[in-house]
Amino acid sequence: MSKSKKSSLTRINSPTSQKKSKSIATRIISTALAVLAAYFVFIVISIEVNGRRGVVSPDEWKELIKRHPYQRRDTDLRSPCPMLNTLANHGFIARDGRNIKSQDLFDALMLMGAPPSVSVLILNYVYFRLQEPHPQDPLWAQFKPLKTLDLDRLTIFDVLEHDVSLTRNDTLLAHPDTTYVVPAYVERMIKFAEMKNQGTSKGFFTRENEHDVRKLRWLESIRDNRNIHMDFFAQFASSTECSLLLDIIGRDGSISLPHLKSFLLNEAFPEDWHPRETTFPLKDLITKPMICWHGLRKSQVSLDLINEL
Ligand code: HEM
Ligand SMILES: *[C@@H]1O[C@H](CO)[C@@H](O)[C@H](O)[C@H]1NC(C)=O
Repeated sequence: MSKSKKSSLTRINSPTSQKKSKSIATRIISTALAVLAAYFVFIVISIEVNGRRGVVSPDEWKELIKRHPYQRRDTDLRSPCPMLNTLANHGFIARDGRNIKSQDLFDALMLMGAPPSVSVLILNYVYFRLQEPHPQDPLWAQFKPLKTLDLDRLTIFDVLEHDVSLTRNDTLLAHPDTTYVVPAYVERMIKFAEMKNQGTSKGFFTRENEHDVRKLRWLESIRDNRNIHMDFFAQFASSTECSLLLDIIGRDGSISLPHLKSFLLNEAFPEDWHPRETTFPLKDLITKPMICWHGLRKSQVSLDLINEL
């Protein structure tokens, strides 16, 4: 007897009441799943709509930035992220870098044209991961998200912080503080772009430059840092940051050298810059980091280049 015949026979033989209760259970489960899916879609749509309200036109930005001058004190806490530090240096999030709510960060990121739902995901991830347990607390207390974040906590390795950054030392290399930029790294990026780019890309730092410079940083870390840790997640994070630098801070895969210097070295908004006028599309958030990842692997640079820079 074939398998299908056998199963249809069993079905005929099964008592109708059992069949009925089974179909009611299936209906309840599928209705619950449909409600859940609808709720999820509703949440995502409202986050997307709300987030898009945050973007501003270049004229609105001009007015806004007048009320947000650069100001930085030695006691302020900062992160390994040039974007968050720039936002703090201009008071779009707490200037002292302390007690920052997830909502404050969300609002500032929307102003920059970051993708809303993904920003919510990242912020939730960070606020969960950085909740520090206390031995006196009940066991479950550690599974609650943080209420507020101090920026320097973002240096904790392997939450988002990783090795082979464009502008920061590796974590276990010579006791660095990754809240501080290494000026020589930024100067090297600029010198490299000046040396390499001709024609329309002259005066800009391009995606291709990013692939080469990141690969150089990677080779350099392998050479100098016994404790380097550039795992799959770190490579994923790096290629996303490549796109954040070139498509949100910069536009369409490149950034002018003065803007690069302003954001990465001084962590200040350049005077002639304005944020994206449209939210960074989700599609690009998938494809652009893939291009960065692939580009790094294809890059032909070798360590010899360091001597030329
Ligand atoms: C508009 C949104 C954002 C932009 C444009 C941006 C930009 C960047 C860039 C370009 C880097 C690479 C720096 C380097 O390689 O030296 C970076 C690193 C980093 N970002 Fe952001 N970022 C954004 C949002 C965030 C958010 C929401 C968080 C966390 C709350 C965050 C935390 C970090 C951290 C911890 C690093 C260090 C990673 C490393 O070790 O290199 N960033 N960001
Ligand atoms: C980076 O590392 C170098 C040596 O490995 C050290 O001299 C420098 O002070 C470090 N810079 C920062 C900002 O950590």
